[in-house]
Amino acid sequence: MEICRTINELEACLEVEHLKGKSVGLLPTMGALHEGHLSLLQRAKEENDVVVCSIFVNPVQFNNKEDFEKYPRDVEKDERLLEEKGCNIAFVPSADEVYAEPATEQYSFGDLETVMEGSARPGHFNGVATIVKRLFDWTKANRAYFGEKDYQQIAVIKDLVRQFNIPVEIIVCPIFRDADGLATSSRNQRLSADKRSIAPKIHQILSKSYNLKDSLSLSQIKNFVISEFKMYKDFELEYFEIVDAQTLQPLLKKGNNGVIGCIAVWLGGVRLIDNQRYY
Ligand code: PAJ
Repeated sequence: MEICRTINELEACLEVEHLKGKSVGLLPTMGALHEGHLSLLQRAKEENDVVVCSIFVNPVQFNNKEDFEKYPRDVEKDERLLEEKGCNIAFVPSADEVYAEPATEQYSFGDLETVMEGSARPGHFNGVATIVKRLFDWTKANRAYFGEKDYQQIAVIKDLVRQFNIPVEIIVCPIFRDADGLATSSRNQRLSADKRSIAPKIHQILSKSYNLKDSLSLSQIKNFVISEFKMYKDFELEYFEIVDAQTLQPLLKKGNNGVIGCIAVWLGGVRLIDNQRYY
């Protein structure tokens, strides 16, 4: 595996591959890699000649300084893991180089960014779009891989690609869960053993609500989920919204598009997100 630590190195490495007509798959990450990331890597390997995984804890997408500082980092372990799993190129740039051109980009995603993560984390999606657009420009990837755990992020990235006519195919990958149902996340490392043991309740409650979908209205499902979380004092629910799976706008009744419930919840000072598709 090649490890590129500068943009020049990355571009030089990829130019050769593009000239040879090889397809390039990009997996953007913030590191502290886990099975969820690796499931995306596996898919990217199956579908591309060359896979690039970027590891960069992107400061401009954090609206909370403490969250940025406490974000788990272990680049050496990540590099070993990527090598072991057959990634071709790891791109591990410095913040100084990534933002040598200051992050002054201003993106607009309309209603997609006024709800849920967009309203809870001001500036977050502008920061995500800033780094992802730069990664698309540097890699000229044919395909890029994103996980459904960050459902709203995918909607925003697809809109970014549409607005700028970027020649990259966005590949959406399913949520990878630990055996007990908790969606794997770099932030899970920050949970104490005690909190980790109750974290699977998130998926359990959402699954329970899914099983009730034929007998409850969407607003009843929403109330059910909210009331379930109230029974566990360790959880502090930030939001649970049932939204149109395409427009991400809150729904009172099922329309023509899919229906998804998205949640953000705090557990022992750690913010976790998950979602559940209903229709
Ligand atoms: P990060 O949280 O590291 O996630 C990188 C990619 O892995 C994202 O597309 C995310 O949705 C996916 N992912 C994380 N956990 C997953 C799981 N349990 N199952 C399936 N996919 C999972 O998302 C980011 O980084 C950043 O915002 C980034 C796009 C890299 C921009 O900085």
